[in-house]
Amino acid sequence: MEGVIVGVESTAHTLSIGMVSESGELMPSESSVFTPEHGGIHPREAADHHSRVASDLVSSVISREGFSQSDVKAVSFSQGPGLGPCLRVGASLARTLSKSWEVPLIGVNHCVAHIEVGRNQTGCEDPVLLYASGGNTQVIARAGSRYRVLGETLDIGIGNMLDKFARTHEIPFPGGPVIESKASEWSNGGSSTSNLELPYAVHGMDLAFSGILTAAISLSEREGLGAASWSLQEHSFASCIEVSERALAHTGKSELLLGGGVACNGRLREMAQIMCEERGATAHWPEKQYCIDNGTMIAELGRREIEMGRVTKLEESAINPMLRTDSTPITWS
Ligand code: ATP
Ligand code: FE2
Repeated sequence: MEGVIVGVESTAHTLSIGMVSESGELMPSESSVFTPEHGGIHPREAADHHSRVASDLVSSVISREGFSQSDVKAVSFSQGPGLGPCLRVGASLARTLSKSWEVPLIGVNHCVAHIEVGRNQTGCEDPVLLYASGGNTQVIARAGSRYRVLGETLDIGIGNMLDKFARTHEIPFPGGPVIESKASEWSNGGSSTSNLELPYAVHGMDLAFSGILTAAISLSEREGLGAASWSLQEHSFASCIEVSERALAHTGKSELLLGGGVACNGRLREMAQIMCEERGATAHWPEKQYCIDNGTMIAELGRREIEMGRVTKLEESAINPMLRTDSTPITWS
C-alpha cells in the first residue's frame, strides 16, 4: 500500500489535519474551528483551542482512512503566514509527530498550498488564482519560479470584511455563508435584483474593502440586511473579478482558479464563470472542503516539495507569521 503525507494547518481559527497519498490522492481533513463567543478571534484563545483538539484530530484522520503510523512518510505544516500563537501550536505538533514517527518534516507556505490543492483537484495547469479568504485577497500568477502577487487588498481581506459586516447583525463567525444566503433569499435566488449604491474600490490592480464595509453597515440600517448583503456581494465580488480579468489579460493565461474560504460562494463562482466565458478562458474551483483552510492542502504542498527533495531541518522550522506568497521558490511542475 502507498504511504501518506500528513498535513497540519493552524494559521488562524482552524486546526485541521489532512492527508494525501504519495501519488497525490487527496483525503478529506479532520478539522475543528475555534468560534469566539463574542467579537473577533483572540490569537491566544484560538491557540489554546488548537492544543486541546490536536491529538484527537490526528488519530481520527489516520484511522478513518485505514492507515497506521507506519504508513506516514512525512509531516508537513503551515509555516506562515498567520497568527503567531496559532502557527506555533501547529509547528510544535508537526515537530513532535515527525520526531516520534521518525519521518521528515516539511514547513510550507499556506497561500501557496491554497493554489496547489486547487491545481490538484481541478487539473488546471497554469492559472491566475483569485485567492479570496478571511485574511487575504490576492490575485496571483506564476512567473518563472515564483507565484507573483499581481494585485491585492490594501486593507482587510474580503472574508474578514464579510465577517465584520455579519457581526454587526449578531451573525457569528464565519459570517460569509450567512451573508450569501441572506443575499440569495432577498434576491429570490438572483432573479430579482436591485444593486444599491456602495463604494467600489479598485485601485489599479489593488483592492480595498474597509470603505465598502462602513457604507454597507449604514445601507443595511436603511434598506435591511438582505438588500445590503446582495449589494455588498455584487460590489466586492465584481471588484475581485475585474482585477482577475485584468490579470488574465496581462499575463495571457487562460485559466482562472478560485481559492480561499470566500471561493465557496456561489455568486462569486458564477461571476468568475461569466467573465471567463466572455473572454474564452475557463474558471475552476476546488470542492468547498478544499477552499476553506484544511490540512489536506498542506499535505499536498508538502508532497510536491518533498518530491523535489526539500525537507525542513529542525533548526529551520521556526514559524514566519509574515511569510509572503512570492517568498517561496516553486521547484515542482
Ligand atoms: P487565510 O489564512 O488564507 O486568509 P482564513 O483564515 O481566512 O484563510 P479560510 O477558511 O480560507 O480561512 O476562509 C474563511 C473565510 O471564508 C471567512 O471569512 C468566511 O466568512 C469566508 N467564507 C466561507 N464560506 C463563504 C461563503 N459561502 N461566502 C462568502 N464567504 C465565505
Ligand atoms: Fe487560508
